Amino acid sequence: MTAVITGGTAGLGSQLAKGFLSAGAQVVCAARGPHEITDLLADHPERAAFVHTDVRDPDSLHLLMTGTAERFGRIDIVVANAGITRNGLVARLAPSDWREVMNTNVDGVFHTVQAALPHLEQSGGTILTVSSAMASRAVPGASAYAASKAAIEAFTRCCAVEFAARRIRVNCLSPGILDVGMGEIVGADERLRQLYWPRMLSGRAGTAQEAVDAAVFLVSPSASYVNGHVFEVNGGLL
Ligand SMILES: NC(=O)c1ccc[n+]([C@@H]2O[C@H](COP(=O)([O-])OP(=O)(O)OC[C@H]3O[C@@H](n4cnc5c(N)ncnc54)[C@H](OP(=O)(O)O)[C@@H]3O)[C@@H](O)[C@H]2O)c1
Repeated sequence: MTAVITGGTAGLGSQLAKGFLSAGAQVVCAARGPHEITDLLADHPERAAFVHTDVRDPDSLHLLMTGTAERFGRIDIVVANAGITRNGLVARLAPSDWREVMNTNVDGVFHTVQAALPHLEQSGGTILTVSSAMASRAVPGASAYAASKAAIEAFTRCCAVEFAARRIRVNCLSPGILDVGMGEIVGADERLRQLYWPRMLSGRAGTAQEAVDAAVFLVSPSASYVNGHVFEVNGGLL
């Protein structure tokens, strides 16, 4: 079982890599830098790899997928996790920031899925995209990020419809605020904690492990009847 994780070198992605390794998979972590996974690569030289990848560049994704298939023989799981945010009120948001978010979050997921498709078709594999609670909630300053995540959810459903005949399931993991990556930055800001924490039924940020557990389920045979679904892991952010 081989999993490719874009943005698999930091935050949620590096935790997904650890979780998939623990579940017995071979893992390829794709990003521009290895960041938090140098120990993981050293500990699992046979089963874990880093591939320099820029999800904004379709050629980079094709090299990632063909290289992975050559090295590990197959691709079973693709997690389109790489994502960024640029905050700013609509009136003042720089167009370059808007384009950067769309280019990475939306175009990047499209390029990832398109490059993975022939390989997943062979293996009957599965795709997991990564959205956010922000896809369906409104906060001042988050328009680019929220719009990009809503696009990912719509794209996920269309992919599930198009790929069903090829035996490829496509689902979306939608985390709320986690204790890693972008969520860790939110949690470190007392003003934002006071704003968000009372709105979550769990009254706290989610752990990375709680999101990883959901991801491991969604890509596993246990979720064989789950398809085209947006799976929220947000502690009840109602
Ligand atoms: N953490 C949370 O609380 C939370 C909540 C909801 C949703 N999410 C979603 O979860 C995903 C991961 O977020 P995170 O918090 O873990 O972020 P993070 O800690 O900032 O990590 C982002 C990862 O994406 C990679 N990346 C960024 N731009 C890339 C590019 N152009 N090409 C390839 N890789 C790229 C980064 O590596 P390089 O910069 O070196 O390329 C890094 O590995 C995102 O889609 C985010 O929207 C996170």
